[in-house]
This record gives sequence, C-alpha cells and structure tokens, in this order.
Amino acid sequence: MHTAIVIGLLCLVGAVSARHITKRETSGNETIFNVQMSGYTPTQDDDYVSVAIRAKPGYIVKFEPAAGAERIHHILLYGCTQPAFSSDFWKGGATCNGPSHILYAWARNAPSLELPEDVAFPIGNPGDAVQYLVMQVHYAHPFVGNVRDFSGIKLHLSPVKPKYVAQVYLFVSGEPIPPGLDASYNNMSCFYRGDPVLHPFAFRTHTHAMGRVVSAFVKSGDEWTQIGKRNPQWPQLFQKIEKPLEIKKNDFMSAICRFDSHDKTEAVPMGSMGSNEMCNFYMMFYRLADEPDPFPYGAMCGDNEASNVVAKEYPAEGLTLLPSHPEWEHAGHQAGAPFGVKDKLALHQLGDVTFGQISGMAFDSNDQLYIFHRGSKVWGAYTFDANNQLTDKTPVSENAIVVGNPNGDSIEFVKSFGADLFFIPHGIFVDDSGYVYTTDVGTHQVIKWKLSGSSLAAVLTLGERFVPGPDEGHFCKPAGVAVSRHDGSIFVADGYCNNRVLHFSKSGRLLHNWGTASTAASREVSRLTLGAFNLPHDISLDDEHERMYVADRENGRVQVFDYAGNALSAIGDSRFFGNVYSVDYCPGHGLFFVPGLPTSEETELNVYTVPLGSSNFQYAFRPTQAEFKRPHIVRARNQSIFVGEISDGGGLLWQFDMFEEAGRGKKAMHMGGAAMVSSESGSVNAGSSTQSTFVVILIVGLAVGMALLYYMRRHRVTVNSRTPHTLLDRAGFKPLRTDDLDDDDDSDDDLAIKASDLK
Ligand SMILES: *[C@@H]1O[C@H](CO)[C@@H](O)[C@H](O)[C@H]1NC(C)=O
Ligand SMILES: *[C@@H]1O[C@H](CO)[C@@H](O)[C@H](O)[C@H]1NC(C)=O
Ligand SMILES: *[C@@H]1O[C@H](CO)[C@@H](O)[C@H](O)[C@H]1NC(C)=O
Repeated sequence: MHTAIVIGLLCLVGAVSARHITKRETSGNETIFNVQMSGYTPTQDDDYVSVAIRAKPGYIVKFEPAAGAERIHHILLYGCTQPAFSSDFWKGGATCNGPSHILYAWARNAPSLELPEDVAFPIGNPGDAVQYLVMQVHYAHPFVGNVRDFSGIKLHLSPVKPKYVAQVYLFVSGEPIPPGLDASYNNMSCFYRGDPVLHPFAFRTHTHAMGRVVSAFVKSGDEWTQIGKRNPQWPQLFQKIEKPLEIKKNDFMSAICRFDSHDKTEAVPMGSMGSNEMCNFYMMFYRLADEPDPFPYGAMCGDNEASNVVAKEYPAEGLTLLPSHPEWEHAGHQAGAPFGVKDKLALHQLGDVTFGQISGMAFDSNDQLYIFHRGSKVWGAYTFDANNQLTDKTPVSENAIVVGNPNGDSIEFVKSFGADLFFIPHGIFVDDSGYVYTTDVGTHQVIKWKLSGSSLAAVLTLGERFVPGPDEGHFCKPAGVAVSRHDGSIFVADGYCNNRVLHFSKSGRLLHNWGTASTAASREVSRLTLGAFNLPHDISLDDEHERMYVADRENGRVQVFDYAGNALSAIGDSRFFGNVYSVDYCPGHGLFFVPGLPTSEETELNVYTVPLGSSNFQYAFRPTQAEFKRPHIVRARNQSIFVGEISDGGGLLWQFDMFEEAGRGKKAMHMGGAAMVSSESGSVNAGSSTQSTFVVILIVGLAVGMALLYYMRRHRVTVNSRTPHTLLDRAGFKPLRTDDLDDDDDSDDDLAIKASDLK
C-alpha cells in the first residue's frame, strides 16, 4: 500500500516537473522572459536536468537569477540552434543538439548580471545561432522532505540591436597531466585572425582539484598583457578585468593552467569525472555588432600554436601562486549539506487544549508562538446571515489563544487564555511590548489587548461590535492584522466583504485606507489590477524595508505594497495555486505563503517560499506524512515554519524545519531585502532598484558550440553532443562534481562590475 502511494507520488513528480514555466512580462520596452523549473524534485546526488524553450527574438541585456545556493549547485543557460531533445524537459547532462553557446552561468547566490551599455547577447533573431534556450540545473543533492524547486532565470530582452555583441572565448587544454610534479603546466595559444577588435571585460577559470593557477595573456608586438589570473580553487565566478584591454588582428593569445600532481603516480587525463582534470580559461568580450563574426568556427582555442613562444616568453607572473585566501578556498570546496524543509511536528493539541480550527498565529518578541483557534466553533454556511451578521452570538467557550514555546524538538505548552471573548477568531498579532491584537470576523472588530498573566483587557477597540459596515468606523469580517514595530501603527486586512486595507495610528486614528474590489472582468489572472482585492485575508509587514504583503486570497496572489499603500507588485501563478490564504514575511528568510484549497488545476497544496531578494517563489514544500487539507495560516521564525489548519474535525498545527547550512542562503539576502518585485502583473516597479544596482559579472556568455565542432575537426574527435562525458566535459559545461560552491564573500569585491567601468 505504501508502495502504491510512493509510485503515485513519483508519477505526480514526473508530471509536474516535466513542465517548465515560461512567462512573459513587459517593463517599458524591455521584455522579461522567464526560464524556470516547474516544481522539480531532484532524485539523486548530482542530478542534472534541463528545460528547453524557443528563444524569443531580442537582445539579452540582463540576467536575473531566481535561485539559491542552498538548493542548487549551479545553473548554466545555453543558447542552441537545436535543443538536444524535442521535449521541453529532460534529465541528464544533454543540452544542445549541435552548436551550443553558454549565455549565462550562475552559482553561489550571485546576483543579477547586467551587461554594459550597448552590449547584448542576440538570441532568436533571424540568422542568430541561438534559437533555443536550454537551462541546465545541477542539484548537488536530493532535498530533505517534500520540496519542489522553481528556480530559474529572468531574461531581460531589449528589442534594439546593440552597438556591441557579447561573446565568450574559451581556452581549453586536452593534454594529460604528468604525475609527480609540484608544478606542471598545460599551455594553450592561438593567434587572433579576426578583424574586429575584441574588448575582454571579464574572465573565469575552471579546473578540478589539481589546478593551482590559471592565467591568460595577450602578446601584441613584443608586449605581453595579462587578461586574467585566478586560483581555480576559489569559487568559479566571472571576475572583472580591471584594465581596458584590446585584442587586435594577429595578436597572440595564450593561457596556462598550473597543476600540482606531486601526489599522483599516473598521468591524469582531462575529462569530466572527479578523478579527471580540466583546464579552462573563459574570456568574455564584446565587439562591434556590425562586423562579421571573427570566430566562424568557434570562439575557442584548443591548441598551442606557438608552443616555443609560450615556453620561452610567457610572463612568469602568470604562473606564480596567488596568496592564500582560506575563506574562498573553503567556499570553493565545501560540498554543501543537503537542503530541505521537513515536517517535524503535527499536533492536534498543546497542553490540555485541543485545537479547534486554527485561524491565526503570531510570534511574540520572545519567539513564543500564539495560536488563535476556534475551539468547538466551526465557521459554516449558516454562521452569518445574508447581511453578514453573526447568527449565533455565543462566544468560543474554550481558551481561544494558546501560547507555546518552540524549543527545537517540541513545542512546550506555556499557557492558554481567552475563553468567552471571541466569536469567530481569525487573525492575531503580538507586538514587541506584548500587546495582543486580534481580528474577529464574528464581531467585525479589531481589538488590542493588554495581556497580564492569562487575562486579557481590551485597550483599543476598532469597529462596532456585531455591526458590519464599509465605512471608516466599521469593518466587515476583518481578517488580518499586523502592527508596525516602528510606530505601533496598525494595518488591517478588511476582509471578506470590504476588499480594503486600513492603516490606523497607534492610538486608533485612521490614517489611510486603500484597495478596491476586483471586478469580475479582471479576475482573469493576466488582467488582475494591482491594488484590487478579492478577499484580503492575511497581512504581514517587513518594517525594515517598509513593505507590506497581503494575501489577496481569491485572486490567488500575494500583493506587495509600501507603507503608503502603493501597490508595487504581485506574486502568483494560477498553474500551481488558485488562492493564497496566508503570507508571512520572516526576516532572514523572506516570504512564505500558502494556498488554502486545492484547485481544479492543482490538487497538491504547498507552502511557497520567496527568498529575500527574489521577486518570485523559488521553492515549495509540503508534509511528508500526509497532505495539507485546509492550511489557513503560515508563520515562520528562524529555521522553522508553522502551518495551522482549519479542518472541520479540528485544528492541526504543523512545524517544518529548514535544513540549510548555517550561513548559507542568508548570504545572498543582503543584496535585496527590499526587492520583492512583480512577477505577474507586468508592472515591475519600485523595489527592483536594489537588484539592478548589482551589476555583477558573474558568468558568462560564450560561443562554444561552433568552437567545439572546430576543435573536434582538428582533433578528429567525434562527439555526439547528447552523450555525457564527451569533450564538452572538458569545457566545464557538463555534469561533474566541481563543488564550486558557495559563500559569496568575494562577490562584492572582485566580481562587481559597473557598466561604466566597462566602457
Ligand atoms: C520605448 O521605445 C520608444 C521608441 O523607440 C522610445 O521612444 C521610448 O522612450 C522607449 N520607452 C522606454 C521605457 O524605454
Ligand atoms: C609551458 O609553458 C611554461 C611556462 O612558459 C614552460 O615552462 C613549459 O616548458 C611549457 N611547456 C611546454 C610543454 O611547452
Ligand atoms: C530563534 O532563534 C533565537 C536565537 O537563536 C532563539 O532564542 C529562539 O528560541 C528561536 N525561536 C524559534 C521559534 O525557534
């Protein structure tokens, strides 16, 4: 029986993961083109999967990753003339059928890559070599728990042909490394025969464990100039080339990989296996777009055309070891621990309180969890009359608030209180001074309570008891409440009939009120207007960046506002969920949101996660022991996520724990806490500035496919590009365990390139 369930789940996994997301949005004249996993669950160590999509015509000016190093080892985006397979998703290392060009690579939480002004990668236009995009994702490990991945890359396409096109030139050596040497050199060299001047602006090095230094120089006349030099044991990102550099016709280009083979007893061949080696230097450059491609046979040097010149003249400084940088070396090597989110507890009661429907949850400043439940009351069809008046005006007789202390292994019961005070409990919040705020859809009130021991005293009451209304003095089934830690002002999501958010001062004066009902015509997801609601159901604040997140329940999205009520963006995708019941902003982690009901499209309920700095959900998780039935509230703190359910049979409290290497994942988050940008509505606006200022050369575009053909011709290598472990492996594009993780300590310093630096 278990087997049947497992097989069923596997089928589901297959079905879901075989789709990929490609979504288009527009911002000004730029088109945004998403290439994303559609909820893939890696099944093995070093799981390689690819999604393929036909390229939309345009010019890539920016790559915006939506991925996390705690889940993903690296992502490579290839441009192909033909994808390896006709399907849009496959497992394994295959990428293109025929020529392939790496357009972008991502690892270690690198932020967006914006190309210099007037520089772009052309794709999809008539005559372009790139007609398909294949995104290859390398998962180092299966996830812990039931986790689906939605990582991807947002491409920003300009419709305008740029003055310069970007390309990548690759030096690659196929020579084996002799054993027993402290320093062994693999030399590569080629003359540049093209006409257009090349402007290198970034480089990347790649070897396996034996590499010590990789450098490249250009010799023009008698003068040798360094293109780049890096320790390949450091995280293998693209590094900016500091000095403006030009490579002209007949210049001599050379690169050397220095290896340490002193502990080897046999020659080590080049190849993809961990026991093999690789020797690569990638040079990213731009050139005038109107001139013919200087590398019709591939932008690659797989040769040593003037070995004597290299042997005699190669500058010694290109071969010396770089100063040790233990942190980077560590980061480059650490094989990450598996990532995951796993259910740890599923509780029907805490202490002597058996949960009724759990409608709300909140943490106080001591990280105690307040659980707001309905005791024996159930909100049913006859709970309200046609005028939204509560029919049975008897309160919940049980203690409606239960306080627990999550201590890692369990949730310790602290106390419970609040009997006979609430009618249909809904939302709860606890401020830093310990005041408790509740919304009661039964009374249509929002109340601030002073809690002394286990007794509650109302200190501020908003709304008129049992009287629904649309005006400033009334609510109608108010759903969510959140309080700013800055000034104690109160935000209320109101709620089931009013479709608005109200902002009150600490003393209860109405400051602002916004939102309209979504019209029936705008219910279609693509036509949803920002700022219009269909049941604002939960609300969560990010005080640091003054962002407010509202679960726009029946519109199936999270809307992002600033504190002035300006709608900034929305996060949603009707293919995966049709409603969003609850949303929580968790400092240090980002956003968690959960739908409350299956839809006809998607029957599986997950908690979705939008990591800090991202504009879209990147992964989702659900229990392993059972499926969610009616999740109603999600709240997260530290490494734990709590979900409350409202099943008719009573409430259920889940605790999930995140498995994430300490310090990982968080590192990237410094880059854009405020940058939750739109994904659905098309109006990508405020908030995105944080990200776009990170102009970082991370990785690369490169034209390798043609180069490979050329190389193969020269070396009489026959390669079926679908076959794993081919020459492709040597170029560092193929499945291999490079462990080039993670920790982006260096990314701000030596990897950041401003557009202005490049010209
Ligand atoms: C879009 O293109 C038009 C015509 O080329 C130009 O006038 C306009 O400024 C562009 N708009 C943006 C937002 O770039
Ligand atoms: C490679 O270059 C280095 C440095 O110039 C030199 O010492 C070595 O002899 C060269 N190796 C070959 C095989 O030419
Ligand atoms: C969160 O972390 C803090 C500090 O490490 C700890 O004191 C607290 O108990 C944790 N809270 C939860 C809910 O795990």
